[in-house]
Amino acid sequence: MKKHEHDLVIVGGGAAGLRAAVAAREFVDDVAIISKVNVLRSHSVTAQGGIAASLGNTEAGKDDSWRVHFKDTVRGGDGLVDHDACEVLTRGAPEAVLELNNMGVPFSRTKDGRLDQRPFGGHRLPRSLYAADRTGHGIAYALYGENVRLGVNIYDEYFLLDLLTSEETVEGVTAYDIRSGEVVGFSAKSVILATGGCTQAFEYTSSGAASTGDGLAIALRNGIPVEDMEFIQFHPTGLAGSGILISEAARGEGGYLLNDDGERFMKRYNPDMMELSPRDQVVRAMQHEINRGKGIDGGNHLHLDLTHLSQRTLWEKLPTISQIAKDYANVDPSETPIPVQPTAHYCMGGIPVTLDGRVKLHEEGKNWDNLFAAGEAACLSVHGANRLGTNSLLEAVLFGKRVGKAAAKAARRGERGQVGGDDLAEKDDMLGSLLASDGSGRVGALRCQLQETMSSRCGVFRSGEELEQAAAEIQDIKREFEENLHLDDKGRTFNTELRSALELKNMLEFASAIVNGGYERTESRGSHYRLDFPEKDDGEWAVHTFIKKGQGGNYRLSYRPVRTGESG
Ligand code: FUM
Repeated sequence: MKKHEHDLVIVGGGAAGLRAAVAAREFVDDVAIISKVNVLRSHSVTAQGGIAASLGNTEAGKDDSWRVHFKDTVRGGDGLVDHDACEVLTRGAPEAVLELNNMGVPFSRTKDGRLDQRPFGGHRLPRSLYAADRTGHGIAYALYGENVRLGVNIYDEYFLLDLLTSEETVEGVTAYDIRSGEVVGFSAKSVILATGGCTQAFEYTSSGAASTGDGLAIALRNGIPVEDMEFIQFHPTGLAGSGILISEAARGEGGYLLNDDGERFMKRYNPDMMELSPRDQVVRAMQHEINRGKGIDGGNHLHLDLTHLSQRTLWEKLPTISQIAKDYANVDPSETPIPVQPTAHYCMGGIPVTLDGRVKLHEEGKNWDNLFAAGEAACLSVHGANRLGTNSLLEAVLFGKRVGKAAAKAARRGERGQVGGDDLAEKDDMLGSLLASDGSGRVGALRCQLQETMSSRCGVFRSGEELEQAAAEIQDIKREFEENLHLDDKGRTFNTELRSALELKNMLEFASAIVNGGYERTESRGSHYRLDFPEKDDGEWAVHTFIKKGQGGNYRLSYRPVRTGESG
């Protein structure tokens, strides 16, 4: 079986992974990225609205500073933002975006040629830099170019199977080479997990098909905790029926949300910030309107009205969402409102890390020597219980760079890990038995069941009873997966059914953590709203949730307090 050796292996080729690789190349020569998709199909490419930094480039935003950005982020995070991490994020933002500009990201400009900044939800001043509504596309392509220039080894279409560890050291990873069908070992001196988000576990999602939380599941199976998984962000404006993102930039540029009466209902929920309130508030208001029968024609969507915006605004600043509305809803947004509904968008939680991305062994104190995480897969607690739009691209590139540097320095000090033939043979057997499975349950159907459970019982509004039911349903799907799966495609190469089965196995793993964390958190805060506990309870719950898989497969929960301080 094939083995590769590199100093640093980064799993995931989205904005965080690509930025980490660029930073790492300053310190080590031999950097590799492994990605289950072509890196230019990573979910970051679809990010639309912008990236936050307090440059203060516009008249309306001229008084901006990192301190205001910090305060907005802390306020949006509803009591769960760690202040030290948030300070690093907001202080470092101007430098991070100027670096991107220098790498060639085609940011939109003001009339006098400065980098333009648009308003976004929860940010009190316009601070979102943007490239029309294709910001992620511009960033990913610029970073990819840098990776090519720096000679980073890119392994497209390698699916992460597992970490290889001994004690508290990572030796490398195993992956399924989708093209050849082989199990391949990668030995490394350090590893970064930048495997992205997990909202494909929900029925309506704005995230790409690859966002199946593979890194989270592999962390759990290796005894690594996950943090704050109950905080799943729903974006207010997914295209009705499909969940495709219609950027918040549309509201930043002046779009309204309307109910079936044609009313701008946000005035009853947050008259000061209206459609640009923090996302958790907008989503709850929308769901409330839908639940009281004020969805369009009594259904489960509302209207996003852009008909009052100029053609120029639509085509210069919102071309992608205008095209999406036409292609997927047959709506010309200059003439007709776009049908929208809440869509699962982002996971505030993830693999807990230190400020330079080192994976934590426990809530406090001990960390892995040479295992790192970055981007949506990681939890730095910069977003708390509710992320502000445009802070995720910022987190991905700013911490991507920090983590890339730290991991490369660790690689310089470390020994290359050992990948044994037995490790590969074990994974090969695992694939073999999945391929041989001959029951009657189909991957697609089981995946739909999971998505339905997560959306209907663990969505914008939750309750103890629904979460208990969700936990039971996930157990049933797990059992069906283990005992009664059937794969039609028995081949090894480009077997998309096998890949989907591996992804489903991963989603079932972390879905239990989301539901467990949500069940135990008997309060409402940020994106986690419990109908049976509608109040925020700072006395009891201003804490981060840690979940580890214990003996016998049970999930063990523990907590740590939020780190607050004088920052800002
Ligand atoms: O609506 C958007 O463009 C999303 C941005 C974000 O989640 O950061």
